[in-house]
Amino acid sequence: MASNWVGELIYEGKAKRVYRVNNEFLVMEFKDEVTAFDGVRKEYAPGKGRLAAAQTAFFMRLLDKYGIRNHLVDWDGDRKILVRSLKMIPIEVIVRNYAYGSFLRRMPLVRPMTKFSRPLVEFHLKSDELHDPLITMDDIVEAGLASREQINEIVNTALSVNSILSELMISRGLVLVDFKLEFGVDKSNNVVLADELSGDTMRVLINGRHLDKELFRKGASAMDLVKAYEELNKLLGIP
Ligand SMILES: Nc1ncnc2c1ncn2[C@@H]1O[C@H](COP(=O)(O)OP(=O)(O)OP(=O)(O)O)[C@@H](O)[C@H]1O
Ligand SMILES: [Mg+2]
Repeated sequence: MASNWVGELIYEGKAKRVYRVNNEFLVMEFKDEVTAFDGVRKEYAPGKGRLAAAQTAFFMRLLDKYGIRNHLVDWDGDRKILVRSLKMIPIEVIVRNYAYGSFLRRMPLVRPMTKFSRPLVEFHLKSDELHDPLITMDDIVEAGLASREQINEIVNTALSVNSILSELMISRGLVLVDFKLEFGVDKSNNVVLADELSGDTMRVLINGRHLDKELFRKGASAMDLVKAYEELNKLLGIP
């Protein structure tokens, strides 16, 4: 299979390069690079691409077992995953269990790391230029980005993902603070979980210590970040 994973480069993002294999499939190559603050801080991070691809493959396969439809087809054991090509909905869906990050900036009345009475689900428009602003469900519908039914399905899926991942993390002594999801729509108009699930897109703590990209945002080196991802993979049994 891996030998067929050739295609034309169609997009280079901050974390991944995307290649088109054919109408149906894409290859996503995770870069050995780490960026923060909308790309303002950027460093070479040898080994990170493989670790993040492994995390994404592991979590997507786990979610698949629980019946959560997602884009993963295969992982090459290195930095690439093969995925189903989707029409992406340009929003970021964030699930929060504890108060952190942009939540605290917009709601300073809540103390950092307060556990919410129930998980929060929020939407942000994907726009580096506007710094991914918080948007409402009505905004999404009015802009024609998704229907109300699709949004409801996205919220339910996001909460299920949270239950599954939180339970796993707790069983390994980890705390899932928050994470980001992206969704796309397939040719049959099904909403499908896409993009990545990795230390770049979640906050996860062990004894109050980050094993995620927050380390880099807080000034740690790319090397320390790679070490943290290795530790996370070891704790979760990810190869
Ligand atoms: N199954 C999929 N089909 C089509 N596009 C996808 C799929 N999964 C993820 N994508 C898109 O592929 C790109 C991955 O690149 P990357 O995450 O590095 O981009 P980025 O720099 O974060 O920029 P942005 O995510 O804002 O476009 C993203 O634009 C993501 O929305
Ligand atoms: Mg991205």
